[in-house]
Amino acid sequence: MSKQQVAKVLAVAVGLALGGSVFAWNEEGGEKDEALHLKGDPENGRDVYEVCAACHLPEGWGSKDGTFPQLAGQHGTVVIKQLADIRALNRNNPTMYPFALPSQIGGPQALADVVAYMASLPMTPDNGVGPGKDLELGKQLYADNCVRCHGDNGQGDAEKFYPKLQGQHYEYILRQFREIKAGARKNANPDMVKQVHEFTEQQLLAVCDYASRIKPPADKMAPSADWKNPDFN
Ligand code: HEC
Ligand code: HEC
Repeated sequence: MSKQQVAKVLAVAVGLALGGSVFAWNEEGGEKDEALHLKGDPENGRDVYEVCAACHLPEGWGSKDGTFPQLAGQHGTVVIKQLADIRALNRNNPTMYPFALPSQIGGPQALADVVAYMASLPMTPDNGVGPGKDLELGKQLYADNCVRCHGDNGQGDAEKFYPKLQGQHYEYILRQFREIKAGARKNANPDMVKQVHEFTEQQLLAVCDYASRIKPPADKMAPSADWKNPDFN
């Protein structure tokens, strides 16, 4: 074993002994770093994206019921990180896993390519939102607990791999929030887990509802909810 591998085994053993997760939220190296350093080719990315379109739709808008997240508009760094994590089983996604494997779509270059393609997709003006019951509470909770990472306008932070929440579907936000809070999303950010682990059910619903109503800037959205991606029509 190399020194690095020994260090990793030790870190995992210590983590286990302390009752922590053996999965890291953002380890150095691996496919993510490789893909981030490659120049993406949007033309090949379009071909790769054809696989993704089956679930995330040709527009990259996912589904309003939150089964499939909106990918359009998401930071390329975040998309690459999540893809690499899903492929490494560092984030469970059994529905998508078989379609995202290198044998299906290619290695790190395919990740860079598909992200280069997706960068041109406008976001949906009509994402799924929550019931709107507790928005004042949600707003306050968001300001106190989420802004420092996801931004005052849900814009996230590309360099730090903090996802954009703008325009994301409520049911997806809620599902991820629950999984992160419960420690079930392996690649969750440990500081976020700390920040939200004491949220009550009412607080959790309120803050996710509020977050689902943060709209992207007008120039990032498609002109209408029935816009179709001309590349696939
Ligand atoms: C068979 C359906 C399916 C296919 C095909 C598919 N996905 Fe997914 N994808 C999903 C589902 C379902 C989720 C949400 C899983 C969850 O709730 O944790 C997801 C989540 C994601 C996420 C995480 C989004 C986020 O905000 O963290 C990314 C990134 C992603 N998919 C990219 C892709 C790309 C790129 C492709 C094509 C190479 C692809 N997916 C193909 C079903 C699919
Ligand atoms: C310390 C920084 C931090 C704080 C505070 C934080 N988050 Fe996060 N959040 C993250 C990171 C980083 C991720 C992505 C984890 C990963 O890479 O898989 C994330 C992921 C998420 C996701 C999943 C997004 C997706 O596209 O899959 C949701 C939803 C979310 N956060 C909502 C919230 C809300 C709501 C709050 C406030 C109550 C909050 N977060 C507070 C850092 C933070």
